[in-house]
Amino acid sequence: MILVTSALPREGKTTAAANLAVTLAQLGDRTLLIDADLRKPGVGRLLNMLDGKYAGLSSYLAGVSSLELVTVPHPLIPNLVAIPTGPLPPNPADLLSSHKLAEALRQLRTEYKFIVIDSPPIMAATDAVILSVQTDGVLMVVRSGETPKEAFTRARDLLVSVKCHLLGVVLNAVDSSAPDYYYSYRYYPYSYGYGPQEASEMYSSNAGGSEEHSHSRYPDDDENSL
Ligand SMILES: Nc1ncnc2c1ncn2[C@@H]1O[C@H](COP(=O)(O)OP(=O)(O)O)[C@@H](O)[C@H]1O
Ligand SMILES: [Mg+2]
Repeated sequence: MILVTSALPREGKTTAAANLAVTLAQLGDRTLLIDADLRKPGVGRLLNMLDGKYAGLSSYLAGVSSLELVTVPHPLIPNLVAIPTGPLPPNPADLLSSHKLAEALRQLRTEYKFIVIDSPPIMAATDAVILSVQTDGVLMVVRSGETPKEAFTRARDLLVSVKCHLLGVVLNAVDSSAPDYYYSYRYYPYSYGYGPQEASEMYSSNAGGSEEHSHSRYPDDDENSL
């Protein structure tokens, strides 16, 4: 069970969650994609499924729909089932904190091999942090060149503070024509066979007990976005 989240809106959480779920389903395992962004739904639109006004996660959490009623098989992709948001509630964080969510996730774990959960941005609401502790791992999405470092760091620290299992970061929308892309690509091989210069840099930074200087030759390290 994987939660997909990020620091800010429009970084590609929904896109990444849907891509991941579709891929897992196409590999042949029963996969469930839950739209837990009860503030700005996106899964339904992206997968051409029902959204918003129909029953969904919020209706189940509010006690007006059963779990069976809100799980919808994708019409075209075998093995893919989705739970849309349902009507947007005024109190998403309260709903997501309810014991009904824990109950549902316990039940759904027995029915699906993979569960991918889409969520709102961490800096906008506590929803994703609340969800993170119920999942097996969290994927953070970062939008290349746009996510401010400070926002990412604060979001990551919040997740670390609740001791969820941070799986890694998805670097979204990398511009392969940007000069930085070629710069890092060109220098990439050096990290395998440390040349004399690199080796001495590694040594001196390790000996000093600090990693700060080891990255100084990358010009983009001083910029404020990732
Ligand atoms: N790699 C990408 N390249 C181009 N557009 C993208 C990419 N990833 C996301 N988008 C677009 O950016 C917008 C926000 O993406 P979305 O997945 O809805 O973000 P979030 O769920 O974090 O708010 C959408 O219009 C989406 O189609
Ligand atoms: Mg989204």
